Amino acid sequence: NNKPTALIMIFGATGDLAKRKLFPSLYRLFKKDKLGDFAVIGVARRSLTNDEFQASVTKSVGSEEDSNGKKAEFVSKFHYHSHDVTDSDSYSSLNTLAKELDNTYHLNGNRIFYLAMAPEFFGTIAEHLKTDGLTDTHGFKRLVIEKPFGHDLESAKKLNSQIRTAFTEDEIYRIDHYLGKEMVQNIEVIRFANAIFEPLWNNRFISNIQITSSETLGVEERGRYYEKSGALRDMVQNHMLQMVSLLAMEPPISLTTDEVRSEKVRVFRALRPIKGNEVNEYFVRGQYGKGIIAENEVPGYREEDMVDPESNTETFVAGKLLIDNFRWAGVPFYIRTGKRMEVKTTKIVVEFKDIPMDLYNKQEGSVSPNLLVIHIQPEEGITLYLNAKKAGQHMNSTPVKLSYANKGIDGLNTPEAYEKLIYDCLRGDATNFTHWDDVALSWSFVDNISEVWENEKEKNFPNYESGSMGPKASDALLEKDGFFWWPVT
Ligand code: BG6
Repeated sequence: NNKPTALIMIFGATGDLAKRKLFPSLYRLFKKDKLGDFAVIGVARRSLTNDEFQASVTKSVGSEEDSNGKKAEFVSKFHYHSHDVTDSDSYSSLNTLAKELDNTYHLNGNRIFYLAMAPEFFGTIAEHLKTDGLTDTHGFKRLVIEKPFGHDLESAKKLNSQIRTAFTEDEIYRIDHYLGKEMVQNIEVIRFANAIFEPLWNNRFISNIQITSSETLGVEERGRYYEKSGALRDMVQNHMLQMVSLLAMEPPISLTTDEVRSEKVRVFRALRPIKGNEVNEYFVRGQYGKGIIAENEVPGYREEDMVDPESNTETFVAGKLLIDNFRWAGVPFYIRTGKRMEVKTTKIVVEFKDIPMDLYNKQEGSVSPNLLVIHIQPEEGITLYLNAKKAGQHMNSTPVKLSYANKGIDGLNTPEAYEKLIYDCLRGDATNFTHWDDVALSWSFVDNISEVWENEKEKNFPNYESGSMGPKASDALLEKDGFFWWPVT
């Protein structure tokens, strides 16, 4: 029986993430019979009885399908510990409970500490886990840590050294939930399992790569966090740069965690730093004003809760990245991400270079460049745009699409990514988690940009209407290079 066995302690068990993603994901794993012996301790400040906590778990898996009383059995494995993250006594009683459950459920001393709560406590908790004896266990110990991993390089370093007092790099699972998405994981398979792509995947044949991750939601109730973060820290430092590294990495010699991660890190090392005067040449920031989304009028960012009416925070970023290595020299990677845009979508468009001569351009319309579109969400699949003969008497070309849909269901808002990542962590596979080196290098890249933006108030904010595809300057960014954003809507 090699099903994973562990005691999972979820810090922040009364929070949104636990309820929306973690409990349902664990339930799905349980239902699919992928878990061995396990128990969960919900850890949070509030005082709750076990019954009350279990009721909230039941509610959070409410929409999941039940089978043969599985749900009740699942929920019975949840226990609650009311906790003060700064108080050693609290950790001691948590440890007592942990030992008790370890015995009851035969968990072999395996412990997972999942920090799904306010990041300001990550460091403190990790230190207490060590000093108060929770990491002192005869099984494995692993720390799962949600974003944000610091606010900039300096704070990230500090946090890292705090958690490293209690856990080795191998024991740290830094979550980037994009790495759990089916089609993000598919990037490497599409690249490395197809003879028709890998030989072309370089600056001789690719003219540019465009990554869009747009949302229609605004900042919701997260104004307080978002004001200090902005799209650059919230999306670019992690999800967007992780996708860039998967698109740009060299083929690893094997699929082990170390090999894959070390190829990814090399991309970050080759990423050209953009600083000072270059920032506004390579990067565009936006902030949404009011507008219309799905026929509803929505307020501008500055009117949102907990947001400064003169906020300088960006809710949109577009940028041009350059990777200075043999494979990619001269190929721009354009990224854009934002809130309150026209559609919720994540797509990657790989644009191939023009063929040497367009024989058909004297006819109706010229040939279009070949595109490979990777649909990350909500649809999952790939589309290859080719040119073929237009039926009829003349030798005209017309674009044709070859499409592959990964599956029929809409992958949005399902806990799928979390399901995979939690399972990986339980099995001890850290491949789809971010390594400290990625985190450090992506912060230093992003810090150069935020430094300029924070010191220079953007006078034109708000500069895009809700429901649009971002500010005009984002289009101009590509036009300067003779490109344009391929439509993703
Ligand atoms: C999170 C950001 O990391 O990713 C959110 O903090 C954002 O602001 C979310 O909405 C987007 O994730 P997804 O999976 O909906 O694309």
